[in-house]
This record gives sequence, C-alpha cells and structure tokens, in this order.
Amino acid sequence: MDIQFRTARAEDISALRELIPLAADALSQGYYTDQQIRSAITHIFGVDSQLVTDQTYYVAVAGSQIVACGGWSKRSTLFGGDQMKGEDDDFLDPARDSARIRAFFVHPEWARRGIGRRLIEMSEDAAREAGFTRMEMGATLPGEPLYAAMGYEVSDRFDIEMPDGVTLPCAHMTKELASRHE
Ligand SMILES: CC(C)(COP(=O)(O)OP(=O)(O)OC[C@H]1O[C@@H](n2cnc3c(N)ncnc32)[C@H](O)[C@@H]1OP(=O)(O)O)[C@@H](O)C(=O)NCCC(=O)NCCS
Repeated sequence: MDIQFRTARAEDISALRELIPLAADALSQGYYTDQQIRSAITHIFGVDSQLVTDQTYYVAVAGSQIVACGGWSKRSTLFGGDQMKGEDDDFLDPARDSARIRAFFVHPEWARRGIGRRLIEMSEDAAREAGFTRMEMGATLPGEPLYAAMGYEVSDRFDIEMPDGVTLPCAHMTKELASRHE
C-alpha cells in the first residue's frame, strides 16, 4: 500500500494519542521493562501539540490510517509530550543552537519499512531550510538504532526520572547537517 507523508494537523491529534502508546508498547519490548514502558507512556511519550501548531510534525498515512509520526523542533524542549510540558519552550537560534528531532513513533505493523528514515529526512530538510546546521535529540533505547543509521552519534547517556520513581535510560544524540549540495 502507498504511504503518503504530510504535515500533522490539529485534527490528527486524537489518532496520534492512540498510535503513540501502541507503538511504544510493542516496539520497546526487549529495550525496556514492562514497568518502564508503562511509566513512560504515562509520563513522557505523547503528542507535543506545540509541534503541530508550529507545523514541524509529520504523519505517514496508509489509506485512511495514520501509521507513523515524527518531526523536529525549532524550540528548546528536547523530549516529551504535552503531559510533561513546562511553561517555557523558547525559540532556538539557528546560528547558535541545534534543532531538535522529536517524538518518532511507527505502528508496529509498519515498522522496518523505511518510514522512520523518511520522516527524519523530511525533518532535517525543513530544519536546514530554517537555517539550522546541527540536530540534537533525547533518544529512547529503541529509537537509537534508527538514529544511528541516520548518522546520529551518542554524546552522552542519561536517565529520565519519572514521577513514580521509575527511571528511563536514554541517549543524547547529535548530528551535523551536511548542506544539500555536499
Ligand atoms: C524507532 C522507530 C521510530 C523506528 O521506525 P521504523 O520506521 O521502523 O525505522 P526504519 O524502517 O526507517 O529504519 C531505518 C533503519 O534504522 C535501523 N533500525 C530501525 N529500527 C531498528 C531496530 N528495531 N533494530 C535495529 N535497527 C533498527 C535499521 O538500520 C533500519 O534500516 P533497515 O531496516 O534497512 O535495516 C520505531 O521502532 C518506534 O516507533 N519505536 C518505538 C517508539 C520509540 O522509542 N521511538 C523513538 C523515540 S526517541
């Protein structure tokens, strides 16, 4: 089936709120414990609706079903859905700061078909267009192989402490964007 890629819209958010826990639950197996997955779905993973407003979040659509989402950000927040959003989410300065790669989730039945790769390319193209030369992200362990395949390198590892006391090991990953002409 053909997959269409487009910018996410406000009316997609309810479908994304179903897709994200499903993807996180199925595709985190073997990387995180069931307790870590459950806690992360409650406290971390989710839609950051600011990205939808900013039009920097994308969806992959097969037929009438949204099968994946992911995007980038020109704002400071590194990870997390609306449920963990603080007050400030300031604009980054492309001359000084790295743009963020944000919130990639692929429906388990659509995994390993290059959708994540394509969403990263769309994100990097748009960030480059906005003047950014570097990308950075807080990656989950299940996300790490995709980002590594796309040229991202681990700069350090950290644990996110969730409100229930469970910790989620993550990786800080970065990439220099080559210009489109190189
Ligand atoms: C991470 C995720 C988005 C990957 O999406 P995807 O569409 O399956 O990735 P792609 O098919 O584009 O993979 C591209 C390449 O990345 C690497 N890769 C992706 N997933 C991998 C995995 N589970 N194991 C090993 N390598 C993997 C491979 O090199 C792959 O190329 P190949 O299939 O030709 O070998 C998906 O597994 C997911 O939703 N995971 C759960 C949620 C999550 O943790 N998201 C990351 C948040 S930071």
